[in-house]
Amino acid sequence: MKATFEKKGFGGVEAGLLAIPCMRGRVPEKAVSLLKELGAEKDFDGSRGKSLILHTPREKYARVLLIGMGREKNVKIEDFRAAGGKTYSNASLLSAERCAVWMDEKTEIALGDAAQAFVEGFFLKSLRLDIYRSKKKDEEKKEASEEPSEDDDEDAQVKELIVLCEEDLSRNVKEGYILAEAQNYARLLDQEPANIMTPQRMADEALMLAKKYGMDCRVYTSGELEKEGMWGLLAVGRGSAQSPVFVRMGYNEGKGFPQIALVGKAVTFDSGGVCIKPSKGMVAMKYDKSGALVLMGVMRALAELKVPVCANLYFGAVENMPDGNATKPGDVVKAFNGKTIEIVDTDAEGRVCLADAVSYAASKKPELIIDVATLTGAVSIILGRYGAGVMGTDEKAIELMLKCGEHTHERLWPLPLWDEYFDMIKSEIADVKNLGSDRGEAGTITAAMFIKEFTDGVPWMHLDIASVDHIESPTAYFRRGPSGKHVRSLTEFVRAWVQEKAKK
Ligand code: BES
Ligand code: MN
Ligand code: ZN
Repeated sequence: MKATFEKKGFGGVEAGLLAIPCMRGRVPEKAVSLLKELGAEKDFDGSRGKSLILHTPREKYARVLLIGMGREKNVKIEDFRAAGGKTYSNASLLSAERCAVWMDEKTEIALGDAAQAFVEGFFLKSLRLDIYRSKKKDEEKKEASEEPSEDDDEDAQVKELIVLCEEDLSRNVKEGYILAEAQNYARLLDQEPANIMTPQRMADEALMLAKKYGMDCRVYTSGELEKEGMWGLLAVGRGSAQSPVFVRMGYNEGKGFPQIALVGKAVTFDSGGVCIKPSKGMVAMKYDKSGALVLMGVMRALAELKVPVCANLYFGAVENMPDGNATKPGDVVKAFNGKTIEIVDTDAEGRVCLADAVSYAASKKPELIIDVATLTGAVSIILGRYGAGVMGTDEKAIELMLKCGEHTHERLWPLPLWDEYFDMIKSEIADVKNLGSDRGEAGTITAAMFIKEFTDGVPWMHLDIASVDHIESPTAYFRRGPSGKHVRSLTEFVRAWVQEKAKK
């Protein structure tokens, strides 16, 4: 599939489906006359959430999808993502190979932002996450002779989205496409089950990504991890038949650009280890690698967009399993930076892996470390599934991140790291323990507080994405499955962050 831009107006190209987002009370003249011609004037007024498909007598645009966006003053950028998703669903149901959208509305929102969001929603919705199904729902339904629904689209029918506008929006269309595809890349890998996406396979994917974009990449296996002193990562991996690996990837190294370190949690499956999780909901623990994959998506986007930054990605890929050889509650291990950890709960494994990866990143002295992790169930207790938690020691970075989260609708909310929380992770026998309160009090914060101990004074920001890693109820532009959330917000953050640096 591809996205193209044409500096043309309504009906400027031939398409199987022409979509037109319309404001309430401001339906474009061309659409109104089409409605009149078909005697459907009363059926559409641009009300929010209402849409209408018109079968027209025109050859160039036989089917027109009018999408109600609601009142002009209430329209948000996010509404254009929803419109894009809706358009994809309709194009797919109608088997429209070429789908066009005419961007004409004049609102508070810049046309470029609206077009970019539309493209994002369109391509995010297009990703199929049922690659292991040999029989698609479509065929089953046909047999049962039911009406198809929007999830029944067969693969690859929709081949192209053409954005039409009298104003040049080619850059926005291109960027929307790059960002959505980077996010889809993360989602597709995240969808893979743990028997396929093993720690070694994570490393192989990183090597392939690096090769494709001319980035540097190194993989460290067990023996080297011992030599480096990554005993946290090794401790988490001890109970698994799959050995842990550590991956380092670099974009634009040695070119004098501002240096940023990205650190991801890459637990390919989290059974909880000896402190085993209840079986209900354990399937979702294949998504415990989301953090690293989201950051691989960010690396890809940075390379595609040629962002002038030096970005290094680090992650320790590992499987957390119970076994005779597994780490036990009470065990003590030493992390890369020499700090000792008392492992009180083997299910708080993410922070133990991050201890090594974050302190390794810190040893390279970047200007900022960002870690992204499906770290705590507690973050969804705080925020539900509508946002991720953000914490850290770099207030400016957090402020900027909040803005990027808002703009991309990958929302975040800040949590405090007051000194008192550190008291909760003090250990009697080691430097820190990997569990705060055993009643779960401030679980998201104490987890972050633990990671802070391994940042060694480098400015740092932490995203706990456990609340948004996968979608349970489909939305206008997300199907069920991994969300790839924070690929777009983080890419936008890095771009804005380098721009700020350049000003100084
Ligand atoms: N991977 C989980 C966190 C998680 C939970 C992600 C639910 C997505 C959905 C993490 O390793 C974990 O098990 N955290 C524990 C921490 C506790 C033992 C302190 C949790 O949240 O229960
Ligand atoms: Mn866990
Ligand atoms: Zn985990």
